[in-house]
Amino acid sequence: MDFPFEKIITTEKETEQIARQFAHALLPGDVVLLEGNLGSGKTFFVKALLKNYGVENANSPTFAIVNEYSNGELKFYHFDFYRIEKEYELYDIGIEDYISDENAITFIEWADLFPDAVPKADYKIIIELSREGKRKFLIEKV
Ligand SMILES: Nc1ncnc2c1ncn2[C@@H]1O[C@H](COP(=O)(O)OP(=O)(O)O)[C@@H](O)[C@H]1O
Ligand SMILES: [Mg+2]
Repeated sequence: MDFPFEKIITTEKETEQIARQFAHALLPGDVVLLEGNLGSGKTFFVKALLKNYGVENANSPTFAIVNEYSNGELKFYHFDFYRIEKEYELYDIGIEDYISDENAITFIEWADLFPDAVPKADYKIIIELSREGKRKFLIEKV
């Protein structure tokens, strides 16, 4: 996959294909930001991506702030900032330690809500859902 990557797709299968291609580009320590309206497919994308690493039980972290997974070799942190009200909630759970973990790949939905809490990122994914149900994926290195 070359960056910036841009593609307009219609089916969940196509989203899974993008997730598989993107998984090949990821390295331990990477931090991936996901932007896009509710229902655009951020969680779906992360779940599809984690399946490529053998993690089958991923769920939306909206209520937990962060979900943690491991496949034995690598850890995966999946954040969702949507329900966070104050930035200190992120510092309380030690967000710096998650982001700087070089043995993990970190995904953050709605990272743009608290940009100061995310000092480093490697990729930004923007998903735009159109009224006709098409999805535009833009993946860029940051
Ligand atoms: N091509 C597609 N890519 C991703 N999700 C899709 C696609 N087509 C339909 N969907 C559905 O859209 C919904 C996306 O929800 P979700 O991933 O939770 O969004 P977000 O995390 O951005 O709020 C899921 O129910 C998923 O099944
Ligand atoms: Mg979500």
